[in-house]
Amino acid sequence: MTKILVTGGKGQLGQCLQSISNDFKTLDFVFLGSNDLDISNNIEVEAYFKNNTFDYCINCAAYTAVDKAEEEQEKAKQINEIGAKNLAHACFKNSVTLIHISTDFVFDGTAKLPYTEEDRTNPISVYGKTKRDGELAIISNLPEHFIIRTSWLYSEFGSNFVKTMLRLSEEKKELSVVDDQTGCPTYAKDLAEVILKIIDSQSKKFGIYHYSNQGQITWYDFAKEIFKQSKADINLYKTDSKTFKTLATRPKHSVLNTSKIHSLLKLEPIQWKKSLETCLTQINK
Ligand SMILES: NC(=O)c1ccc[n+]([C@@H]2O[C@H](COP(=O)([O-])OP(=O)(O)OC[C@H]3O[C@@H](n4cnc5c(N)ncnc54)[C@H](OP(=O)(O)O)[C@@H]3O)[C@@H](O)[C@H]2O)c1
Repeated sequence: MTKILVTGGKGQLGQCLQSISNDFKTLDFVFLGSNDLDISNNIEVEAYFKNNTFDYCINCAAYTAVDKAEEEQEKAKQINEIGAKNLAHACFKNSVTLIHISTDFVFDGTAKLPYTEEDRTNPISVYGKTKRDGELAIISNLPEHFIIRTSWLYSEFGSNFVKTMLRLSEEKKELSVVDDQTGCPTYAKDLAEVILKIIDSQSKKFGIYHYSNQGQITWYDFAKEIFKQSKADINLYKTDSKTFKTLATRPKHSVLNTSKIHSLLKLEPIQWKKSLETCLTQINK
């Protein structure tokens, strides 16, 4: 059996991993929430790895409140950078491979083409900077790592854009959504499958990989399709980031080029509309 520790196991991606873990019979999982293991506490992390044996650690733990991070810089740093560094050290000492999740927010969003893994990072928010610093801490401390950058995660678990839109469609008659940020949504369960396929493949091709569903849309396009597929009765309007102000600046265009991971795992690309359909079916169950 391959032994796997999932940190941040009670978050959105952690719950997605848990929901598909039974499909992978040769993998043996331990899911830990933030109360069980605080990744920003190095003494706790070292002790946990000393007392337990794993082949892989999947780090789903993160400070993910993008706007709040602008006011809680130190907290975001402790979790996204120092937490990642603590795990990298512990994995190195105990010969564990680390699979770490990062974000399209490491880019500034000025590129015209989808970002490849080699493109220059230039985060424009505290969240993005702390996530990039986490990547760097792993790269310089642990050769045996996979860093997977993803974008616009949603699922039936936790809170996310899809669930917020569904709730708002019941509370409001009209809604405006920004139409000047382009990216690609990713069903967190599709990402969870990709992570477990990396482990299943026993690949040693360590490094950074990009994964998202396929397509390029704005948040307005995404909301429109959510309302269409869920037959919501709401009037939707376009707005822009100048009108809909947020504390953190977001990349304008942060589409990820995913060909590297598709060729590593011989994956079939999944169109974003198809995955949205799958997720809405799960939510309606
Ligand atoms: N959500 C997105 O749109 C998105 C997009 C791109 C990339 N990502 C990345 O994808 C990964 C998973 O995101 P997600 O949507 O699953 O996030 P999430 O639902 O916010 O889950 C994050 C989890 O991390 C836990 N956590 C926070 N601080 C911790 C600590 N010090 N020690 C241990 N656990 C801690 C949280 O637990 P508590 O709730 O108990 O604090 C929470 O369960 C993250 O790395 C994120 O940066 C997310």
